[in-house]
Amino acid sequence: MNYHLHQIEFISQDSTWLDRYWQDPSARLTYLLRHAFSHSFWEFYAQEISDSISRQELLMRSKWNRTSDRLYLSQIWTTEAAAQNYQDRIQMQARLRSSLEKQGFQISETNQHITHDATQEYIREILQLPHIFQFLDQRFGIPLPNLAGDPLKRKIVTPYQNRQQARDHEILFASLFLPPVPKKEILKKIKAVPASAWMWDDYRQVDMLPLMTSSGHPTREAVNSQRSTASYRWTEHAPSELINYFDQHIWDWMETQSRVMILKTKPGARNQEHIDCSPADFHETQLKLRIVLQGQTDSLYFITHQKPLFSPKTEKPYLIDGSWPHGMLNNSPEDKYTICVGAPWTYSNLYPPFEAAIYKDKTLLPQDYERYFDQKYRRHSS
Ligand SMILES: [Fe+2]
Repeated sequence: MNYHLHQIEFISQDSTWLDRYWQDPSARLTYLLRHAFSHSFWEFYAQEISDSISRQELLMRSKWNRTSDRLYLSQIWTTEAAAQNYQDRIQMQARLRSSLEKQGFQISETNQHITHDATQEYIREILQLPHIFQFLDQRFGIPLPNLAGDPLKRKIVTPYQNRQQARDHEILFASLFLPPVPKKEILKKIKAVPASAWMWDDYRQVDMLPLMTSSGHPTREAVNSQRSTASYRWTEHAPSELINYFDQHIWDWMETQSRVMILKTKPGARNQEHIDCSPADFHETQLKLRIVLQGQTDSLYFITHQKPLFSPKTEKPYLIDGSWPHGMLNNSPEDKYTICVGAPWTYSNLYPPFEAAIYKDKTLLPQDYERYFDQKYRRHSS
């Protein structure tokens, strides 16, 4: 019996890509292609694959690599016509190619007839290499070991998860699988901004530099002028690397632009314990996005009626619930620099996959939490 083997080879200019591929959903092709296809396309695509499997046309689908510079996507079909029909239905090949080529990929495809015995040999070889099997028909008589399943599968059916999957109203902390932030380049430019441009925030006891405001001016008035209808603009202090990163990886799921500040905490300094929203907004979803450019993420803690709960360590951007009382103690010998994205953004309809998440246990909220609200609170939040 002969089958049809369709194999696509992906080579990336980014030498870290294939290493990240096996544990980081943001390195997955689906994720890299998220701009080229809509959310509903990915649902259709997942359905087409699953239908092809139920019709017993698609007999094997796996990704694997032999060398550290290229990934293969292999599919074995019962006939060449079945493979072709599938491609005609999903019609993604041209857009897939151009989108990935723009991101520094080289792609090539091969099609060949393959015998039953050669298929078995081919599959056994893949099993010796780093691999993910999405499906393998039992006719080949090769049982998949437990580790052959895709550990990220639940997270990457689509490149995003929706509010319900993310349980966003229950998040205390969630780090996001997003590509690495060019922290060094951004920091270099931030450190070159004159000290006079920074402003002292008495409530949080921290130095702040506005990077995006409702008017694009880096002034205290602009920072305080929060309008949900405002079109937000980067200030002169926003490094181009940061702007590009947000364009590529943040605004697409955040949907609305928002105030962006960078906070600088001196070594040994403590950010006053506080709540980031008004008493009126306390029961709404109040997420904030954070990126620590220099320093530790585990210096941030959430206040409970028991011991404080410290944030996990992560290099990734992360979400926190700004309505839960929190503080930060910079116990490192260096200034801590944190990018903060807050109001008017408070939640999204779609989120990137989570790396680690801590969900809220409301029974841990301190009884006297109201004392952490900004005493001067009127209309503004951060
Ligand atoms: Fe805060």
